[in-house]
Amino acid sequence: MGIIVFGSINIDLVATTPRLPVAGETLLGENFFTVPGGKGANQAVALARLGIPTQMVGRVGADSFGEELINNLQASGVQTGNIFVDETVSSGVAIISVSRTGENQIIVIPGANGRVNQEDVERLIHLLPGSRALLLQLEIPITAVVAAAKAARNANIKVIFDPAPAQSDLPDELYPLVDIITPNEVEAGQLVGFSVDGEESAAKAAAVLLQRGVKCAIVKLGAKGVFCATAEEKFFVPAFPVHTIDTVAAGDAFNGGLAAALFEGFSLRQAVVWGAAAGALATTRPGAQTSLPDRFTFDAFLKERRLGTGELRSRGGRGAEGENN
Ligand code: RIB
Repeated sequence: MGIIVFGSINIDLVATTPRLPVAGETLLGENFFTVPGGKGANQAVALARLGIPTQMVGRVGADSFGEELINNLQASGVQTGNIFVDETVSSGVAIISVSRTGENQIIVIPGANGRVNQEDVERLIHLLPGSRALLLQLEIPITAVVAAAKAARNANIKVIFDPAPAQSDLPDELYPLVDIITPNEVEAGQLVGFSVDGEESAAKAAAVLLQRGVKCAIVKLGAKGVFCATAEEKFFVPAFPVHTIDTVAAGDAFNGGLAAALFEGFSLRQAVVWGAAAGALATTRPGAQTSLPDRFTFDAFLKERRLGTGELRSRGGRGAEGENN
């Protein structure tokens, strides 16, 4: 019984720069490196590194990047038997700039991710009976995302949906199929049509998303923290203060941490703390999958803050509000 991630697999071409360029500007960069990425693959690696049995379903091209991406997933412990190698297209690529303050700009060329279709959904359906949750994002065609969410709902499997990259026109039918939606500020703003930039506006956005049919809305506010709302509870978890060097994949790390905690039977509040911890740790290292913590590092981080596995369990769901500074 594990978790399935259905989504994108990219190679990230990363340039580090003193600051992000403005439109029309040529800027001298500092370093260049390539790392495995893609929002789906990042979430799968985040889960597997935390020790959760994880299946990745998606597509790569029949090129050297595709081979490297599959090898990297395997090296992190992700099961890759349901990744299709598409002979007709190149692997997904992301072109990323990261500034000295850790901000980023990302352009994604979908490649094989853009060819994900009902055949991939069928392979996913075969895995559902042995699974506990399905993680989805928006770097594969929306028709495949909706079909996967429907299949998971029919199989009574929890759907955790990261509406990234930001989109304003999600189909209405998707929301009621989602158990937990996890937008960041920009994505939440696009979904609800007003600006989201702090706890108050995040609460309003979460209320709109609950109204549309999701069971739980978690708004990731970056360095400010995380707001979470269900019909029964609303709470805010402050961010862990860390020295941020690169925010790429921090949101993916959050979703991995969140889903891992739920898989291990922690409460929603505790799961949000795990997500915030995994996201914070990911910002302290460069790159996407290269930044995702292993279980030993993750446990040590929580334990140092007296939020380790044992401590969280003994709090009986009280959680860590205001206790992670
Ligand atoms: O969320 C970060 C990811 O977005 C990067 O790894 C890149 O591939 C893009 O998909």
